[in-house]
Amino acid sequence: MNFFIKSYGCQMNLYDSQRIEDLLLSKQHSKMEDIEKANLIIFNTCSIREKADDKLFSDLGRANLLKQTSKEINFIIIVAGCVAQSRFQDILKRCPYVDAVVGPQDIQNIPDRIDDLIQHRDMDTLVLTKLDPKDKFEKFNNIFSFRSISEFLTIQEGCDNFCTYCVVPYTRGREFSRSVQEIVSEAKNLISRGCKEITLLGQNVNSYNGLGDDGKNWRLSQLLWELSKLSGLKRLRYTTSNPKDVDEDIAKAHRDIPILMPFLHLPVQSGSNSVLKKMNRKYTREKYLDVVNMLRDYRPDMAFSSDFIVGFPGESDSDFEDTINLVKRVKYSQSYSFKYSPRQHTPAAKMDNQISEKIKAERLKVLQNLLNSQQSEFNKNSIGKIEQVLFVKKGRNSNQINGRNEYFQAVTVNTDKAEIGDISNIKITNVSTHGLIGELV
Ligand code: 5AD
Ligand code: SF4
Repeated sequence: MNFFIKSYGCQMNLYDSQRIEDLLLSKQHSKMEDIEKANLIIFNTCSIREKADDKLFSDLGRANLLKQTSKEINFIIIVAGCVAQSRFQDILKRCPYVDAVVGPQDIQNIPDRIDDLIQHRDMDTLVLTKLDPKDKFEKFNNIFSFRSISEFLTIQEGCDNFCTYCVVPYTRGREFSRSVQEIVSEAKNLISRGCKEITLLGQNVNSYNGLGDDGKNWRLSQLLWELSKLSGLKRLRYTTSNPKDVDEDIAKAHRDIPILMPFLHLPVQSGSNSVLKKMNRKYTREKYLDVVNMLRDYRPDMAFSSDFIVGFPGESDSDFEDTINLVKRVKYSQSYSFKYSPRQHTPAAKMDNQISEKIKAERLKVLQNLLNSQQSEFNKNSIGKIEQVLFVKKGRNSNQINGRNEYFQAVTVNTDKAEIGDISNIKITNVSTHGLIGELV
């Protein structure tokens, strides 16, 4: 069939879409960039915040129009991913034209099930929503197409933390770590195809405990050491870390592993102890600052990014001030911040003292202004310095090439002497809206 696939969510959602794509390509289906040319439409959804969730239903309306007016005998619409898992009953009720609803731990079954759907066209909507990821990665092993110089590799998925705002434990299930052998073999495969930078992915990478070759369960720091030995790999990153699980071994890894980049996404969510407690984050602001300081002790140039939620139920002006003060202490190089969005099944959605949209919007603006000014401060510090940049794609104009420095800041260079995949010494000459400008030295 001619398939079109859209991703709505996080990097892991994108990784899953790429694996669905690889499986379909291996079964001789063809990928379409234009939804209007497809007769198999897959929406790989996200339910982290309400906006992502709403977008699905408007896209589904459009897909149904295409289905109704299509001359194809077989026209299949599949909703995959986190909304499929958390709201499959709504989808069945509101969108009876959807042929299959497939949660994140069942996506590997999509290609086989397409054959069923074609053979039994009048069957009820197929619902696949098991929460056990074991056979998912088995099916993915060894069918990888190479996409870019910088690739993601899922090492762990699911979450056992149950932060009270978060839908992930209900959409991706309990924590599961892939074995060291599987991860190393996927990494070697990527490197052999030209990949230079790997970002290890997981909801909670710091609680990685996959089976090692020695029969023991390995920690993230051991896995990082193992991957750092692979020849041809130039840069290693990992995301996302929960501050409560970052230990001294990780800080030492940042000091001692040359290809492990001095940048860490370390979501704090809030700087108020009372809010952190209601969020069930299991750390305090003091512990968070200790973790930041420990990492900077071992690796003085360590840069940090974070996620923030403003307007969590019960957040007072003084709680919000605590967040602002913490931001001023840490000095982030970049960040993502969101208004709290109540999610189905989560305890916070039922808490008293929900905050008004107006206050959420005001607080978000104040926070984002501060975070943006910190990012430009951070980048201004690079002006005049020589930084190592890994080039990942061509720029908008001819002669322009885009890459990232070690601190994950975007760098644009005007040159025809650098190739995608090169790591070059770049003299930073200026800052742009979202990054840096430099020249080859
Ligand atoms: N409302 C707003 N933001 C949320 N996040 C997760 N759940 C919610 C929610 N209910 C944010 C957190 C998380 C990031 C991926 O999304 O900041 O780290
Ligand atoms: Fe969205 Fe979370 Fe699912 Fe990723 S894991 S797709 S962020 S709901």
